[in-house]
Amino acid sequence: MTRVLVTGGSGRLGRSVVASLAETGYDVVSLDRESVPAGELRGDIVQEVIDLLAPGEAERVMSKHVPDAVIHLAAIAVPFSAPEDVILSTNTRLAYAVMSAASGAGVSRVITASSPTVMGYGNPQGWLPGRFPIDEGCARRPWNAYGLSKMVAEETMHMLAAANGNHVQYAAFRPCFVVSPEEWRGAPTQQGHTVRERLDDPRLSAPALFNYVDARDAAEFLILLLEKMDSIPNAQTFFVGAADALAREPLAELIPQFVPGSARLAAPLTGDSPAFSIDKARQMLGWHPKRSWRTELSPESDDGVAAAGSVAQTSGGFAPAGSNQEEAQ
Ligand SMILES: NC(=O)c1ccc[n+]([C@@H]2O[C@H](COP(=O)([O-])OP(=O)(O)OC[C@H]3O[C@@H](n4cnc5c(N)ncnc54)[C@H](O)[C@@H]3O)[C@@H](O)[C@H]2O)c1
Repeated sequence: MTRVLVTGGSGRLGRSVVASLAETGYDVVSLDRESVPAGELRGDIVQEVIDLLAPGEAERVMSKHVPDAVIHLAAIAVPFSAPEDVILSTNTRLAYAVMSAASGAGVSRVITASSPTVMGYGNPQGWLPGRFPIDEGCARRPWNAYGLSKMVAEETMHMLAAANGNHVQYAAFRPCFVVSPEEWRGAPTQQGHTVRERLDDPRLSAPALFNYVDARDAAEFLILLLEKMDSIPNAQTFFVGAADALAREPLAELIPQFVPGSARLAAPLTGDSPAFSIDKARQMLGWHPKRSWRTELSPESDDGVAAAGSVAQTSGGFAPAGSNQEEAQ
């Protein structure tokens, strides 16, 4: 059985990743500073509480668990939630420690979490992308320590791929704003408000350009990537988002209200099109996100009721203006 070691396995995204891996038949080791109560774990998962930045710990766990693959999620995941120098040093050191220890231990597949924030949206000095929808070919221009730390994680992957050739297969992914199953049912997101509030008040979703992804869809992306990364070019980076935007109005109309000067660029974002393209993951891996706010959030209940299904098409009303830079992205 293939053994996958997941760092940050107790986190918002990590919990869905370890559960999906276990349900798919992988042997899963979850490493985190925090443990998940055994009753909340879905599937047979080995947990180890660990500070991956403690000297020698990343190497020790690779020799102890001998994984076939590593998915590195551990990080400070919210911009400005700690001093800038702490975010930069924590996330870059974690990415280097985990990916280099995995490479040194002969792990054959190594995936690291990056973020769409590497693109630099939300910059108070002004920002426009090269194009909408934003794809992996667009230039990265981070403006805070979190975005920079994720760009360094991507570059660490490239450096290790250059050093190790194709003995190790690497990939990075940029998950959009992750919504966990309990958040569809009304649990607060990192910002304290609910997904429904994010949808009802575009000021809350605008800082992330209305992007989002269901945690289980992101987990399914990672499983497909694990299965296919031997057959794609090494060190690829992918956006991982829902097929639609977290908005009731077309982004061609919403984005110009929050991103000055973007009306012409945003014009292609008609209907329910998202700001970030997932065509690369679709074409290279055959990944298709199955869940949308339209299928997961009950229209009747404030609590929201999960009901998995295919992506539907609808629209509705909104309210203008505002900004929140402290976004997990
Ligand atoms: N949540 C999002 O919307 C989002 C969007 C884009 C990228 N990401 C990235 O995806 C990854 C997972 O995000 P998340 O939302 O699940 O974050 P999270 O904060 O819920 O989980 C991160 C986990 O990492 C663990 N961790 C941090 N430092 C550690 C250390 N030194 N040793 C061991 N464990 C440590 C934390 O305890 C936590 O459980 C992160 O790398 C994040 O930057 C998240």
